[in-house]
Amino acid sequence: MAEHVKIGSVDELRARGWLTGKAGSLPICVFESDGELFALDDRCPHMGFPLHRGTVESGLLTCHWHNARFDLRSGGTLDPWADDVRAYPVEVDDGTVTVVVAADHTDRVEYLRRRLEEGLEQGITLVIAKACSDCSTPGWPWVTSCGSGPPSAPATARRDGARDSPC
Ligand code: FES
Repeated sequence: MAEHVKIGSVDELRARGWLTGKAGSLPICVFESDGELFALDDRCPHMGFPLHRGTVESGLLTCHWHNARFDLRSGGTLDPWADDVRAYPVEVDDGTVTVVVAADHTDRVEYLRRRLEEGLEQGITLVIAKACSDCSTPGWPWVTSCGSGPPSAPATARRDGARDSPC
């Protein structure tokens, strides 16, 4: 079941250039570009800068900390070191802006596996490190930074039968 979060008015959005709100603990920001409204997670997936403080131009949002660029419609990044940001549908009713937040059914283990592969293929150490240090995903075996991985955490098999993390 999707949550409908009233986040402000179109007038406020046009006066300020952005709207922010929360769906539970999830920060959300809304922008207008070429007459369309778009909602994204308000945390930059690169290092967490508030995206509502970025710049919108021609359907792209640029984060002001390290200049990662995101497509407003999909949340897809143009900069692989930054990662994609989650995008949400927006509804406008009588001048009120509502963001529709459905449950996130992303397979986190598969997502982290893909990001680790991308980081390794492209030699992006930050992407590798972030994937390897995700301590919050049950079943993700490559946890290295906090040591809280599952006791049966698999890793690359070594010749002596011991296991070793690739990170
Ligand atoms: S925090 Fe946004 S680009 Fe680095």
